[in-house]
Amino acid sequence: MSEPVLSVENLSLRYRVPGGTVAALRSVSIAVRQGEVLGIAGESGCGKSTLAAAMIDLTGANAEITSGTVRLRGQDILSLSRDSRRRLRGREIAMVFQDPMTAFSPVLTVGEQLVDFQFNINDVPRREKWIRAQHMLARVGLTDPDLAMSRFPHELSGGMRQRAAIAAALLMRPAVLIADEPTTALDVTMEAQIVHLLRELQADYRCAIVIVTHHLGVIAELCDRVAVMYAGEVVEEAPVDVLYHDPRHPYTRALLACDPALIEEATGRLPAIGGRLPDLAHPPPGCAFAERCRLSTERCRIVPPPRVALGPDRSALCHEVAP
Ligand SMILES: Nc1ncnc2c1ncn2[C@@H]1O[C@H](COP(=O)(O)OP(=O)(O)OP(=O)(O)O)[C@@H](O)[C@H]1O
Ligand SMILES: [Mg+2]
Repeated sequence: MSEPVLSVENLSLRYRVPGGTVAALRSVSIAVRQGEVLGIAGESGCGKSTLAAAMIDLTGANAEITSGTVRLRGQDILSLSRDSRRRLRGREIAMVFQDPMTAFSPVLTVGEQLVDFQFNINDVPRREKWIRAQHMLARVGLTDPDLAMSRFPHELSGGMRQRAAIAAALLMRPAVLIADEPTTALDVTMEAQIVHLLRELQADYRCAIVIVTHHLGVIAELCDRVAVMYAGEVVEEAPVDVLYHDPRHPYTRALLACDPALIEEATGRLPAIGGRLPDLAHPPPGCAFAERCRLSTERCRIVPPPRVALGPDRSALCHEVAP
């Protein structure tokens, strides 16, 4: 199996907030290989965006990494100077956000910005960058790239904007594309189109993709492997088919049971997992899911759960899961 392109090892991160800290990532280890699509799933507030941001070294000013490493092709990026990190980020890792306006400035045309996004490609004249941008817009499915290039971002529809943002990311020829809820703001049809597009692009460009989404259907369609997060931890990791057919962590089971695509016909309504995430200002000593877990015992509440290896690329963080 190939070496990981991007890997995170035992990464812990907390946010400073008035009166204390929020433990948003707690000893997270995850890796993505070349040509692989890794999905990160979990309920709101479990740390998905924080993990994505940490992978691209874009965490906010109040974030503090307290332990662990982030490696790009084996190189520990957190140990580099701020400048080297920025250069590396620009060259090797690109990000697509839920709101594509994040990627664009409102005061420049899409074309000008798509050219500027290629700042890291030195030996190509501006005119040629313009042509590359046109081709890339056509590639991501914009029917009139010339028109789109002459527009300001707010003059495009939401779906077109997200396609343009994906084009912008790919123009950098990244080794890794990180997408945080890239389809969440779109309607269902547009979401399906973007998922389809990402799959095609991934086959063409062979970059590694990390996709954050709370939509399990998107993960099933797009990903090779999934990491399920809960309260700042990866509680289960598995190849995507395996996870859907044989979820092992009680939280993964509960999450799958809540997926509208899977239960809609059976009941016509959306169940939710009972209870709430623990307070990340004071994470519990044992398993973070114990309070909501039907299988939990006294031990689960007190003793941190072990990471149980369940096969190749497969593990769960649970006292009750048998290897
Ligand atoms: N800038 C910040 N400052 C303080 N706390 C933050 C900050 N960003 C996130 N958090 C907290 O960190 C935890 C993880 O948040 P994060 O945004 O990573 O979750 P998420 O899984 O992406 O959620 P969602 O599905 O709602 O996007 C939450 O408790 C959140 O309130
Ligand atoms: Mg998020």
